[in-house]
Amino acid sequence: MKHENVEKNIGLMIVLILVVVSFGGLAEIVPLFFQKQTTQPVEGLKPLTALQVEGRDIYIREGCYVCHSQMVRPFRSETERYGHYSVAGESVWDHPFQWGSKRTGPDLARVGGRYSDDWHRAHLYNPRDVVPESKMPSYPWLFSNTLDGSNTAKKLATLRTLGVPYTDEDIENAKASVQGKTEIEAMVAYLQQLGTVLKDKR
Ligand code: HEC
Repeated sequence: MKHENVEKNIGLMIVLILVVVSFGGLAEIVPLFFQKQTTQPVEGLKPLTALQVEGRDIYIREGCYVCHSQMVRPFRSETERYGHYSVAGESVWDHPFQWGSKRTGPDLARVGGRYSDDWHRAHLYNPRDVVPESKMPSYPWLFSNTLDGSNTAKKLATLRTLGVPYTDEDIENAKASVQGKTEIEAMVAYLQQLGTVLKDKR
């Protein structure tokens, strides 16, 4: 076939462009499914506890990701501020991952252990009590809402189908381990583990 035919026939041109682009895309994407670096958990990674899973769901429900990313980029300005840059192996069990791209507030990928539990409680109750210039919203209802745990076991079971290594025991105990706890306890438990696996390695 002469090249001229391709140039004159826009339909054919579109089809051929799609073929070329998909090959290029596949060549870039497919190897990622087989690379250990992108599919294996980093050493020492533990699945979230039932309480942390509930905290994570509250984080999503409250839209914390609208203002906070969880992804430290590999630039000096970021690693000086937040710690080790984020690696894929830290979020292999995070479904859906919370990397985000919008930073109205600081990145939270390594916030675990940076503040005390009490600091987080005060901050979430009213951010301005601890950071006077903060424009983060207050979340006072987290202190009065309690968890009934009715879906916690199902959440863990679902995560297990996605590859998170929960044991039968984890799933059996899920409800009892969150029932009656407040949402703020779950949220703080979630925040305090963020990024701690690679925390001090620079
Ligand atoms: C409207 C944007 C906005 C939303 C929504 C928001 N934040 Fe923030 N957040 C900020 C800003 C701005 C700061 C920096 C000032 C401060 O510390 O309060 C901040 C700071 C923080 C910090 C301290 C980070 C650090 O390294 O000092 C934590 C932890 C945090 N937010 C958690 C949350 C959680 C959890 C939620 C959801 C319940 C949330 N934020 C929702 C804007 C937001």
